[in-house]
Amino acid sequence: MNFDHLQKTDPTLFWYIQEERERQETSLELIPSECIASLSTIEALGSPFTNKYSEGYVGKRYYWWNEVVDKVEQIAIDRAKELFWVEHVNVQPYSGSPANFAVYNAICEPGDTTMGLSLVEGGHLTHGHAVSATGKFFNAIQYGLNAEGYLDMEQVEKLALERKPKLIWCGTTAYSRAVDFEKFGEIADKIGAYLVADISHISGLVATGAHQDPVPYVHLMTTTTHKTLRGPRGGMIMVTKKGLDFDLELAKKIDKSVFPGLQWGPHNHQTLAIAAALWEALKPEFQQMSHQIVKNAKALAKRLIEHGFDLAAGGTDNHLILMGVGKWRGQFMQDALDVAGITMNKNTIPNEPCSPFHPSGVRMGTPIMTMRGMGEAQMLQVADWMKRVFDNVSGFEYSEDKQERKRILQEFTKHIQEDIELQTIRKEVAELCKGFPIYQ
Ligand SMILES: Cc1ncc(COP(=O)(O)O)c(C=O)c1O
Repeated sequence: MNFDHLQKTDPTLFWYIQEERERQETSLELIPSECIASLSTIEALGSPFTNKYSEGYVGKRYYWWNEVVDKVEQIAIDRAKELFWVEHVNVQPYSGSPANFAVYNAICEPGDTTMGLSLVEGGHLTHGHAVSATGKFFNAIQYGLNAEGYLDMEQVEKLALERKPKLIWCGTTAYSRAVDFEKFGEIADKIGAYLVADISHISGLVATGAHQDPVPYVHLMTTTTHKTLRGPRGGMIMVTKKGLDFDLELAKKIDKSVFPGLQWGPHNHQTLAIAAALWEALKPEFQQMSHQIVKNAKALAKRLIEHGFDLAAGGTDNHLILMGVGKWRGQFMQDALDVAGITMNKNTIPNEPCSPFHPSGVRMGTPIMTMRGMGEAQMLQVADWMKRVFDNVSGFEYSEDKQERKRILQEFTKHIQEDIELQTIRKEVAELCKGFPIYQ
């Protein structure tokens, strides 16, 4: 991958690119919502399609000279339809959150009742959290998890029957078990609600049979294109046959909601790159890789449990693991791992005893490690490093006293900056990474 022109014209930016590349190549990225976009996707993003305005849809643009843009948007739509077996696709949403808001805008009026999984239990902000516009403009009710850490389908049914939401979200951002889309479908059908699966995290797994397919059970699906689908940052909204049978106008409502309802010019370079990623996702290698993502997550989970860690819902069915690391200690684990060259994020756990800002767990996933070519053997190694890091910072504990907590945090920061064991792990991690280069 060359950036020869930028190197000559703007060395500062060129240097930032080198810095970020070096960071990605030499460390282990376990944030489950990230991916490694292929070189074709990256080249597509840097193409002259970024220059063009093309508001409207294929064959119905407001500006002239969109014949080639039309071909690009159409091929992205066709490939998405082929991959997901859906009736209609809108590839214009700028990202996942605008895609979700476009769904509300298509089928709800302000004040309508909606329902989604709460953020602290693994849902996404855009599924009705109070700080999001989706919680502000709609009467958003939230469901949660049961005592075992699984989606509480009894609660979902009870709330749905009592409160009769117009729109139900099924889909998660921090949940390690399979989502029972069929059961959600039965519940939505009982009350005549629109059912939307936000498959952002698992769309690559859904497309390849590594997760149950929501298509027969839901009216709509939304997804980001930059997680397990392995594309550029972007979003898509898909309408299923069940959706069109339920509401003949649904595809038109979605398109009108995206443009002119929410957005103006589509990002054509992004659409080109989505088309490139979808082409790759249709290949057998992608299918094999998606199944390996799940195998790797299971291998990592098994070894973590052997090390005595407490995993939410006892393990994983997908690409993601949520792990309790002690009250308030998510940040300790996140920061210490970061020094050791292993990146993941602090996260709430089921029945979180603290807060989303100072949670008691970490969230990790296997997509990027798998996209680099790593398998189960490497997962065992990663789990062993995590155990060493955990033991290294186990002396730092939660205090009820606010001042004391501040002091502990300062002491902790000094410790991880100076600690030899963390530096040693950092070197071992870099050595492993050398064997799995991202962009050769
Ligand atoms: C389930 C889910 N939906 C929507 C989004 C929002 O996507 P974006 O960051 O592209 O707006 C995310 C991102 O984390 C997500 O996990």
